[in-house]
Amino acid sequence: MQKFLLTGHVLRFDGVDDPDCPAWIDSDGAVLIDGGHIAAVGAAPALRAAHPMAQEVAYGAHLICPGFVDAHVHYPQTAIIASWGKQLIDWLNTYTFPEEARFSDPEYATAIAQTYLRLTRAAGTTTVCSFCTIHPESVDAFFTAAQQAGQRVVAGKTCMDRNAPDDLRDTAQSGYDDSRALADRWHGVDRLSYAITPRFSPTSTRDQLAALGALWAERPDLLMQTHLSEQLPEIDWVRGLFPDARDYLDTYEQFGLLGARGLYGHAIHLTPREQSRLAEMGAAVVHCPTSNTFIGSGLFDYTGLSARGIRVGLATDTGGGSSFSMLRTMAAAYEIAQLRGQSLHPARLMHMATAGSADALHVGDKIGTLAAGFEADIAVLNLSSTPAIAQRAANAQDIWDLVFATIMMGDDRAIADLWIGGRRTGTD
Ligand code: GUN
Ligand code: ZN
Repeated sequence: MQKFLLTGHVLRFDGVDDPDCPAWIDSDGAVLIDGGHIAAVGAAPALRAAHPMAQEVAYGAHLICPGFVDAHVHYPQTAIIASWGKQLIDWLNTYTFPEEARFSDPEYATAIAQTYLRLTRAAGTTTVCSFCTIHPESVDAFFTAAQQAGQRVVAGKTCMDRNAPDDLRDTAQSGYDDSRALADRWHGVDRLSYAITPRFSPTSTRDQLAALGALWAERPDLLMQTHLSEQLPEIDWVRGLFPDARDYLDTYEQFGLLGARGLYGHAIHLTPREQSRLAEMGAAVVHCPTSNTFIGSGLFDYTGLSARGIRVGLATDTGGGSSFSMLRTMAAAYEIAQLRGQSLHPARLMHMATAGSADALHVGDKIGTLAAGFEADIAVLNLSSTPAIAQRAANAQDIWDLVFATIMMGDDRAIADLWIGGRRTGTD
């Protein structure tokens, strides 16, 4: 099999012990790809000499980094991204639910799944963790599209058996049965993984939460994804629906839906008890910064929650989030931290969008890092992709200055190339 040697600036996470700046950049680095995996990462001259038969792909001043990992998205919301004027509950009822009802049509689901994955690849994203709709067909469509592209993805059938339109409700039993059948069909096939997916506690009865908790107990190898404490009116609603619960997290905990393989999207307005339990259980929360500003939810406490030892993934939350791009999402994470008086280093932002999200998804030993043995999902960034960025880049003091300009101002045009599972796919 032909080996490839990618040369240029290489983003590395190994050998650094600075929590504020958890990465370094080898300006004359190389990544050796052999089949679907990375065989070696190191200095370009040494790897060139050691592997003379490898075909070199010289990226010059571009940055070679792991493909981005988006830890919380709703692919079915692709066509309603950037819908005006509503906060969470009204936004769901006005825009989201009518659109999600269209996914009973497998052809529509397939078309949107393909469009969504093409848009995210164009933005340098190689892995996503997606909610689907209540229709099993929407899960089949998404996994099929990802499988055809060779992508590592996580997805699950969204379960809702109350507080949703008639055509978007399942039952406790059918939610359990369909989730179980879909996990049997897809989990572990190629690079696909299944996540049990109760949308959020307002749209599931106790019976449904208990049924999905039972499924997780039977299948502890699966991830579980949901939403937690996103917006204050939502939290009030949860309090009314679950008067016995200690807090929002308890509405999951009571039904066996709190665990280390749990992913809790948003998690903005957490009580001290919720924070302690998430940390004790080793669960992950997912920061969705463009969504949290767009829907008006609040300022996620990245620094505080990380300091408590809670794992944090980074995500677009398309289409509550206003972008498909993890560059734009890193920029929004930076801005939200600034509003809390904290400045996230570009190395931290790049880590969040790659290894950090991969860790949240429990695949941090497979993707998200450029190192030997990892799967070869790689994005190549042009750090001078537009006139505005190029003029700023010309004035950069160091490499992080350069990277930061692309984080803050970059878009699809910054994605110079893409490799998925060792195949050079480009960005379509
Ligand atoms: N809470 C429950 N469902 C959703 C959703 O689709 N998007 C967001 N942002 N929050 C939710
Ligand atoms: Zn969401």
